[in-house]
Amino acid sequence: MIDSHCHLDFKDFDSVRDQMVAEAREAGVHTIVNIGVDLETSKRSVALAEKYDMIYATVGVHPHDAKTWNENVEEELMVLAIHEKVKAVGEIGLDFYRDNSPRPAQRKAFYEQLKMATKLKLPVVIHTREAFGETLDIVKEFAPYLTGGVFHCFPGDIDDAYKVFELGFIISVGGVITFRNSRMSRVATEVPLEKIMLETDAPYIAPEPFRGKMNHPAFVVHSGRKLAELKKISYDEVEKITDRTTRKFFKLVETFEG
Ligand code: NI
Repeated sequence: MIDSHCHLDFKDFDSVRDQMVAEAREAGVHTIVNIGVDLETSKRSVALAEKYDMIYATVGVHPHDAKTWNENVEEELMVLAIHEKVKAVGEIGLDFYRDNSPRPAQRKAFYEQLKMATKLKLPVVIHTREAFGETLDIVKEFAPYLTGGVFHCFPGDIDDAYKVFELGFIISVGGVITFRNSRMSRVATEVPLEKIMLETDAPYIAPEPFRGKMNHPAFVVHSGRKLAELKKISYDEVEKITDRTTRKFFKLVETFEG
C-alpha cells in the first residue's frame, strides 16, 4: 500500500519520525510520498526522500502559504525539482475556506506553479477548498500541457469527480472516507477504482477508529480497508489497483513490497 500524500517533515513528527516510518513498513506501507507546502517544507521533503528509500517528495507552495510566493522561491523550487526523487509539484491550489493568504496571491502562486509543472513535465497535487469551480477553471487551461494531476482529499461530489476525470486527472481519498455517511465515501463508492489514490494527509484527519488522534502513514491501511468494503472487493485488490494508479501517476519505480 502507498500513502500518496503526507507531511512527515512537520514538527509533529520530530520525536517519532523514524518510529512512524517503521510502523508504516510493518503495516505494509512500502512507499510514502511526502508533500511540500512551502519552500522550507519542500526542502525538508527532499531531505526525507534522501534519507529513506521508501519516501518520495513533491515541492510546492500551498494556497495557505501563497503570500510567501516570489521569484526567488520559484527559482529554488525549480532547482529542488531536478532531484530524481521529486515526483510532482504540490500541494498547490486555492483555499477560500481558511483564506490564510489573500485570494489574488493564491491565484498568482497557483498559476505560476501550474506553469512550473508544465516546464518540469511533472504532475500536480491540488488542494482546493470552497473554491472547486475556480480551481477547475484554472486547471482546465493547463490540463492539455500537464502530465497529470490529482485533486487530493477530494472535497467534491460525484459530478465534480467526473469533471476532474474529464481533464485526465484523478482524485485521492484519505481518512474522511472512513467517517459515517461522508460525501467522500459516497464518491469513492461510485467512481472507478482506477481513478483513486489513497492518502493520509498526516498529521491531519486520522481515519476511524483513530479519529481525532494524530494521523500517520501506517493509518492509510484503514482507508484502504474502508475502500475495499465500499467497493465490495478484497483489500489485496484495492492495494493492487491503487498502488498501480499511484506508481503510474508519480512515475515511481517498483519498490520492495513487504
Ligand atoms: Ni496535505
